[in-house]
Amino acid sequence: MGLLDKHSVLEKNATLLLIFAFLVVTIGGIVEIAPLFYLENTIEDVEGVRPYTPLELTGRDIYIREGCYVCHSQMIRPMRDEVERYGHYSLAAESQYDHPFQWGSKRTGPDLARVGGRYSDAWHVDHLTNPQSVVPESVMPKYGFLLNRMVDPAHIDERLSTDAMVGVPYTSDMIENAKADFAAQADPMSDYDGLMERYPNATNVRNFDGRPGISEMDALVAYLQVLGTMVDFSTFEPVASR
Ligand code: HEC
Repeated sequence: MGLLDKHSVLEKNATLLLIFAFLVVTIGGIVEIAPLFYLENTIEDVEGVRPYTPLELTGRDIYIREGCYVCHSQMIRPMRDEVERYGHYSLAAESQYDHPFQWGSKRTGPDLARVGGRYSDAWHVDHLTNPQSVVPESVMPKYGFLLNRMVDPAHIDERLSTDAMVGVPYTSDMIENAKADFAAQADPMSDYDGLMERYPNATNVRNFDGRPGISEMDALVAYLQVLGTMVDFSTFEPVASR
C-alpha cells in the first residue's frame, strides 16, 4: 500500500497535482511526437497521387471560399459502414498536397473524398444550381451564380508557386504553363497534350459546365470530379500488408 498511499499527497495539493500532471502530459507528448522527427517520411508514398491541375486548384479555392467544408468532410474512416458507403478509406497521401487539408469535422451532407466520377458533370451543375431539383429533401444552398462568374487565371502561376513554396512538387514547367493548362483542361477541342504530359493521371478534359468560357462552375466541377480518383485501388496494397 505504501506507494499508493503517497498518491494522496498529490490528491490533496492542487499545485503539486498540476505540476505532476504537466510532467506526465509532457512525457506522453514527447513519446508520441519525437519519433516522427526521425522518420524520413511520415506519409506513405502512393502511386498516382499528383498535385492538382491549375483548373482543379482553382475549383478547390472556390470550394474553400464557399465554405463547402462546413457541411462536407473529405475523409473516409476505415470503418465498415463508411467503406461500404463511400469506398476505400482515405489514405494520408491522398491529401498530401492539400494546403489546408479538407478533412472537415461536420457531415451535414455526405463525405466527398471519393465523389469524383460518381456523377456526370451535368448532374453536378444541376445539383449545385438547385440541389432540391435532384434531391428534393436537400438542405444544401444553391450555387447557380458560379455559372455566371468567369475565372480570370491571371495569377494562377503565382498560385502554383505558392503551393510549391510549402512543398507541393510543382515543377517550373508546370508553373510556366499554368495559364495554358488552365485553359486547355476546360476545352476538349484544344491541344491538351502538354497538360496530359504534366498531369498524366486522372486528368479530365471537358467543358464541365457545358457553356462557353471558363466559369467558377467549370473549376469547381473539375475539382469535384478528380476527388478520390488518383489512386487505383484495384492494384493498391498498403505497406503494412505487403
Ligand atoms: C448547409 C450544408 C451544405 C453546404 C454548405 C454544402 N452542401 Fe453539399 N450537400 C449537403 C447535403 C445535405 C447533401 C445531401 C443531399 C443532396 O445531395 O443535395 C449534399 C450533397 C452534396 C453532393 C452530392 C454528394 C453525394 O455523394 O451524393 C455534392 C457533390 C455536394 N453536396 C457538393 C457541395 C459543394 C461543392 C458545396 C460548396 C459549393 C456544398 N456541397 C455545400 C449540404 C451542404
